[in-house]
Amino acid sequence: PPKMEPSSRQELKVIHEIPLYWSFVEKWAQVESFQARPDDLLISTYPKSGTTWISEIVDMIYNDGNEEKCKRDAIFNRVPFMEMSCPGFVSGTEQLATVPSPRLVKTHLPVQLLPVSFWEQDCKMIYFARNAKDVAVSYYHFYQMAKMHPDPGTWDEFLGTFMAGKVAYGSWYDHVKGWWEKKKAYQILYMFYEDMKKDPKREIEKVLQFLGKERKEEMVNKILHHTSFQEMKKNPTANYEMMPTWAMDHSVSPFMRKGMSGDWKNYFTVAQNEIFDAHYKEQMKGSTFSCQMEI
Ligand code: A3P
Repeated sequence: PPKMEPSSRQELKVIHEIPLYWSFVEKWAQVESFQARPDDLLISTYPKSGTTWISEIVDMIYNDGNEEKCKRDAIFNRVPFMEMSCPGFVSGTEQLATVPSPRLVKTHLPVQLLPVSFWEQDCKMIYFARNAKDVAVSYYHFYQMAKMHPDPGTWDEFLGTFMAGKVAYGSWYDHVKGWWEKKKAYQILYMFYEDMKKDPKREIEKVLQFLGKERKEEMVNKILHHTSFQEMKKNPTANYEMMPTWAMDHSVSPFMRKGMSGDWKNYFTVAQNEIFDAHYKEQMKGSTFSCQMEI
């Protein structure tokens, strides 16, 4: 039978004060009651922060640097998206229930919406953050190509929506700050896209150490090569081209778009940048979180 295709863009639905895709909200009970296992590794990010990049790195580590093994399936099957739900498809929680341990689990949930079992089981977690301006630009393009989103409008309109936290998964500011606070009490490796761009070798070594894995020079070199932007862009198991076109249309904007830091300078006007900086300062006031806007 034909799989049901969500016919058109839909408005987001608010759950516990966070705007989210309507189909995720429908299956929310499954997410809340999700059973984490002690050896799960959670990969948590705000959307467009480099989730796919860190996921591919971790899957390479789990497979001892064997890229053929990492090409066994699409990234969204190797690292299932926990809160994902779409009519006609197996949901993230259902998919994860069938995955043997140790599992890799992807989420974009803000800290207060994470299923409690992850805290109870004291799972290891990697949080991957990216500067707000590049996230906004990347998200604007993603809204255009991924049809589960509402229409983003113009760049100026979208930037306002992003700053107001009215995009899917809510406020970037609250997201990064929320996870930043949690790392004080839990096993969270808090990483930055900009650091990974600047010195991927050092950052991959941090991941290895966090996971208690042996550091082998040859393996690190293989990971560096396989997870470079150029390699991932042409790898169908990493670049989301295995998603149906009705869900993601790469001809509108490729999922692997630019993969750089500081692309926001090509989009923000001087006026937008001034307003954004003032708002940013206000939003991040009182937090010790800091990240680089370019490298
Ligand atoms: P751009 O749109 O700025 O190019 P996510 O996986 O969280 O959805 O994030 C997608 C963003 O990460 C996109 O940013 C994408 O190009 C970038 N990205 C993916 N793989 C990358 C890599 N290996 N190196 C650098 N950036 C990467």
